[in-house]
Parts: sequence; C-alpha cells; structure tokens
Amino acid sequence: MTITPAPLFHRLCPRQPDTIIRFDGREIEAISGESLITALLGAGLTTGRSEFDHKPRAGFCLMGACQDCTVWTRDGRRLRACTVEVVPGLDLCSLPKQEITLT
Ligand code: FES
Repeated sequence: MTITPAPLFHRLCPRQPDTIIRFDGREIEAISGESLITALLGAGLTTGRSEFDHKPRAGFCLMGACQDCTVWTRDGRRLRACTVEVVPGLDLCSLPKQEITLT
C-alpha cells in the first residue's frame, strides 16, 4: 500500500492549473505566476534537500530570507522557491547536480 502525504499547502481559492513544471523529473501541474513553493507544497512535495543531511525541506520564512526552500535548476543555478514565480518549462531538482547521486 502506498501512502501519499497530504499537501502542506491548500489553496483557499482553487484555480485551474495552466502549465506543467518538472521537479526531480516528476511533472507537476501548476499555475503560471504562483510562487514555486506554493506549486511544490500544494502538490504534496517538499522543496530542496538540506545540504547537511539531505533531508527534505519545506521552507520556513516564505519571504526569501532563510533559504530553507532552496531548489536547483538543471544547469546548476540555486533558487529560492518562495521568491520564484512559476513559468512554463521550469525543470528543477531538490539537490545540486553534483549531489544527486549521493541520495
Ligand atoms: S522559505 Fe525562507 S527563503 Fe524561501
């Protein structure tokens, strides 16, 4: 039996997703212009992983200060999911490219 965790975020005014983004190779329905952290947590996922123990993170401050929501682009750029808007074609990872094989 597979247990799917409940999403950490719930939209108060649900809207129809209008795009697909990718996170760790998984396709996620999202709404253009919403924050990336909203899309990830609303889909029942977490954000990046701790650089110390690789445990999943879910953000803390939601205003760009704590870096607890760090995610990585495929080309190695570090982003804060709470300060990035969803745009079509986002393809992100929970770990930097060089650490993906360590999990
Ligand atoms: S949640 Fe703190 S920087 Fe994004």
